Amino acid sequence: MKFAFFDTKSYDIASFEKYGLESGIEFTFFETKLNRDTVSLANGYDGVCVFVNDTVDAEVIDQLYNMGVKAIALRCAGYNNVDVRHAFGKVHIFHVPAYSPYAVAEHAIAMLLTSIRRTHKAYIRTKDHNFSLSGLTGFDLHGKTVGVIGTGRIGRVFIDICKGFGMNVLAYDKFPIENSGINYVTLDEIFERSDIISLHCPLTDETHHMIDANAIDKMKKGVVIINTSRGALIDAEELLRGIKSRKVGAACLDVYEEESDVFFEDFSGHIIDDDTLARLISMPNVLVTSHQAFLTEEALNNIAETTVKNIVDFFTNDYCENELCYRCGNTESCKNQRKKCF
Ligand code: NAI
Repeated sequence: MKFAFFDTKSYDIASFEKYGLESGIEFTFFETKLNRDTVSLANGYDGVCVFVNDTVDAEVIDQLYNMGVKAIALRCAGYNNVDVRHAFGKVHIFHVPAYSPYAVAEHAIAMLLTSIRRTHKAYIRTKDHNFSLSGLTGFDLHGKTVGVIGTGRIGRVFIDICKGFGMNVLAYDKFPIENSGINYVTLDEIFERSDIISLHCPLTDETHHMIDANAIDKMKKGVVIINTSRGALIDAEELLRGIKSRKVGAACLDVYEEESDVFFEDFSGHIIDDDTLARLISMPNVLVTSHQAFLTEEALNNIAETTVKNIVDFFTNDYCENELCYRCGNTESCKNQRKKCF
């Protein structure tokens, strides 16, 4: 089994080489992302292994299919960058549904605490022997209301941590979990009542720009918005407007709508073309990390182990429990019959 591995970073190689070698999968590591310009690199491979910012649109899928590539192994959970419907009948897709919900939920909390307690600013000050506390006043999380949008694996871990802080947790999910003890309210109530809002739902047509001007209008003055999910859940221009008008008190962004051109790369010493991102980063109350929430040792190991298992299951056992198709999502029909989706 030969796989072309796109958007390779140094931290990917060790874990994938280890699990790949043990399972007879030969990975060729390409630094470039997969897109229309680079898809020809996949010629001669059985499959491609891709991440969040590779572009697997209809054209790329057609080219993969014409080259005889049989599988797209996503080494992440979200698959908004893959045209799953177009791939049906052509190229099989699998993903890693969960690798460490703790990694992402804990990063969301780390960003929240950093942002509201200004520890990133204190660190720089004390490094420079500046021990002044001016401008570092934060607020207690205890007793504050947090609104969690999406109560899946990550959202639920986030909720548990928030409860540990003594916060009042409200939640919204399109598919609420019955008898979970989670205090579900409407999306409008989340916007109107929350001091902090954290996004943990997938990016779909329905959730695209769910945080827009209208949503921000409804929010409390000073609201803190955390996004560790997908950038396009937030209309970044409107967020910027909300920050400039002082309506939004702080934003913690691990993801950004146009991140694929910038995130994961070193642009220090270069001029960033994206004015919205540059302006957001320049704000004292905006904290940006570069899609880093997943990045723990535990998560990297789980990602490699599950991706390799997906590939082995598919090629040797003719069935992969993490196959995605537009008909069955990742839970029903084909899964029940334990067979490939087409
Ligand atoms: P999950 O599938 O376990 O949970 C997603 C939840 O969102 C489900 O409960 C679902 O019912 C809910 N949902 C679906 N449509 C909705 C809607 N229209 N409105 C409100 N809720 C809706 O997914 P998980 O593992 O919790 O991941 C959540 C998201 O986190 C992923 O979609 C992915 O985009 C993002 N993620 C980000 C990472 C990072 O490094 N920053 C790493 C891993 C995931």
